[in-house]
Amino acid sequence: MFFKSLREDIKAAKRNDPAARNWFEILLTYSGVHALSWHRVARFFYKIKLKLIARMISQMARFFTGIEIHPAAKIEAGVFIDHGSGVVIGETAEVHKGTVIYQGVTLGGTGKERGKRHPTIMENVTLSAGAKVLGGFTVGKGAKIGAGAVVLKEVPPYATVVGIPGRIVRIRPPETENEIHEGIIAVKALNQELRAEDLALKEEQAKEAARIAEEKRSGKLEPMQPIPLPTETAAGIEKTQEQPTQVWDEIQKKEGESNENL
Ligand SMILES: CC(C)(COP(=O)(O)OP(=O)(O)OC[C@H]1O[C@@H](n2cnc3c(N)ncnc32)[C@H](O)[C@@H]1OP(=O)(O)O)[C@@H](O)C(=O)NCCC(=O)NCCS
Repeated sequence: MFFKSLREDIKAAKRNDPAARNWFEILLTYSGVHALSWHRVARFFYKIKLKLIARMISQMARFFTGIEIHPAAKIEAGVFIDHGSGVVIGETAEVHKGTVIYQGVTLGGTGKERGKRHPTIMENVTLSAGAKVLGGFTVGKGAKIGAGAVVLKEVPPYATVVGIPGRIVRIRPPETENEIHEGIIAVKALNQELRAEDLALKEEQAKEAARIAEEKRSGKLEPMQPIPLPTETAAGIEKTQEQPTQVWDEIQKKEGESNENL
């Protein structure tokens, strides 16, 4: 169970951090992954009522990672805490898988509530750097909380919330994102097709030019002769240079034929 969760955490780090190179490096150097692993140990002791040991483990993890997670907080496997420093997750908070938490995030209470006083973060939420989510409400799946936002009210799924106090600036369901994504892919494919056609045409032209040059070199191809230009006769009629003799021959031939008939 512990190792299965660790594997999920490492996968989440690899998925969300372009700088992550391999699982071994993540295991050794990612403080978010360390904090979550320590949290599972602390939570085990908390559940068997060894609360002091649980708190001690949690504080030790905070000392090494800068991330403070109350041992009672429920965090699913596959959550990614990036950078980590200054993250605080309160006692009744819940965080579901696929969520990304950046440095300086607080999942806390307003100080006015009792019982469930920390937020529930559903799947695939982004909690940007320095965001404060305060209260026992739910942040819907796929929501994005902007850097430095202070969220005090429930957030619907796929909403983007920014500012202080947090306000919804857009709700973008995944279908829309998919459509935009598909549109971009289609345009890219069309561009590629056009480029390929253009390349094929250029290749054909180059081959043809090379063939003509080769034929010229080997003497197969006679150089082109200039077409005779029309010349002006004394009568001012335009004829080509060969035409007068041809016409004269034909006239003489016709005259000979008619004399024979007489
Ligand atoms: C909120 C966030 C995730 C972007 O979400 P998004 O749904 O793509 O939203 P957009 O970028 O289209 O922004 C929507 C609007 O909110 C505004 N906005 C975005 N982030 C904001 C912020 N943190 N504070 C105030 N306004 C913000 C934008 O200017 C935009 O306003 P406009 O519609 O008037 O132009 C992103 O802006 C953010 O805060 N990222 C921080 C990530 C982070 O913590 N990185 C740290 C890595 S170390």
